[in-house]
Amino acid sequence: LSASELEIIPSGAIVVNSEGRIQLLLRDVNPNDPLGPITAAMPPAPPDQPPTPIAIHQLLPGRFLIPGFVDTHNHAPQWEQRGLGQGMHILDWLEAITFPNEARFADPSHARRAYASCIDGFLRQGVTMASYYGSLHGEATNILADLCLEKGQRAFVGKCNMSRHSPAYYRDASIQESLDVTEACIAHIRKVDPEGKLVKPVLTPRFAISCDNEVLRGLGEIAKHNPDLPIQTHFNEAEQEMKATKELFPEFENEIDLYGHFGLLGERSILAHCCHMTEYEMQRFKELRCGVAHCPASNMTVGGGFMAAPVREFMRRGIKVGLGTDSGGGYSSSMLDAMRLAIVASNAREVMSGGKDKGLSIAEVFYLSTLGGAEVCCLEGEIGNFAVGKAFDAIVVGTTGADQGIMTMVGEDEGLPMMFEKFVMTGDDRNIIQVYVQGRLVKG
Ligand code: GUN
Ligand code: FE
Repeated sequence: LSASELEIIPSGAIVVNSEGRIQLLLRDVNPNDPLGPITAAMPPAPPDQPPTPIAIHQLLPGRFLIPGFVDTHNHAPQWEQRGLGQGMHILDWLEAITFPNEARFADPSHARRAYASCIDGFLRQGVTMASYYGSLHGEATNILADLCLEKGQRAFVGKCNMSRHSPAYYRDASIQESLDVTEACIAHIRKVDPEGKLVKPVLTPRFAISCDNEVLRGLGEIAKHNPDLPIQTHFNEAEQEMKATKELFPEFENEIDLYGHFGLLGERSILAHCCHMTEYEMQRFKELRCGVAHCPASNMTVGGGFMAAPVREFMRRGIKVGLGTDSGGGYSSSMLDAMRLAIVASNAREVMSGGKDKGLSIAEVFYLSTLGGAEVCCLEGEIGNFAVGKAFDAIVVGTTGADQGIMTMVGEDEGLPMMFEKFVMTGDDRNIIQVYVQGRLVKG
């Protein structure tokens, strides 16, 4: 599938096996006789064994299935501060709003309460996979990973590294401790989910400003010895941040050379924001195969970018792009909001570029919020769309009757393409009836 292609299957069937994987995908099933074609397509049971039992769940009229949303950039400890600090520039916002809030996660009981609410809140929005930044605290970060496993949300979970340029009350105790806690969290997550089926650790230097060179170097070493670990950080978010980075690292011309020098860039790097990009940085992104977490909500309200990333240009060059809520710089926990804001931001870019960078379509923002995000997380073999062998991460969308929420449906027979477009543009969590991760019902 390309980003602009959307396949709508009016009468299909998906068979999910006991491991939560898609075993069969049928595109033309008679709704009056679903079991017939499914049993016909199933591999025959060995002669001496009884056939595998099949439980059928048929969707009610007006409901349809979509792949779960992938949130490529999310600060779990900022769940409760969403919406605060509108219009502030990034470093001021961190100091005034974010650091005092994140510091509260030193208390494990606060972390347990807030993280449980955060995960429930995102599952409710159909976020079946989130790449989470934790706070700097090891215990709280382990709690976040445990809760994702318990509640069944697919996630990357990272202890946030910040050894300098943050207040004394919220800073890693030392360079060594920053790295030791990182290693301990990786070990914990590998212990509770040994195969990383649902939850994986992610290296999470907050951004270069908050990391001593030795921390960046140490994380690069960890990355080298753990080639399966994803890496996430903030990249070229806003002028205030870029200027401060340049002052702290005068030896580097730009952030791509900086993070590259410390061994933090490659296919598994998830770089948030990327609002300001030079031609050189665009080329290096492509060469290094870094992924972009596009976060239009925060970009246009908090942080001082007040301009969203050049997504059309990334896509034209074949650079991986996904969407992020960036909760809590982003005020909304809804990926539908992220999709709509991505359209709005891209329309502004179209005007600013004199028509060169066309605005994004419904199909394209849907791609970004599902398969595009999966690619950014290097999980495209596992999730992002419905395909045989992939995990069944899915949302049951309801559009009529009691499910309607604020969507306005004129008639019963509007057809799937129109229902889908209305869901993307006007839907909310009231339309998200059920959510599945790896075949497990996690909401509804
Ligand atoms: N840069 C460093 N930390 C943060 C953060 O928490 N949010 C955003 N939007 N940018 C950052
Ligand atoms: Fe962020």
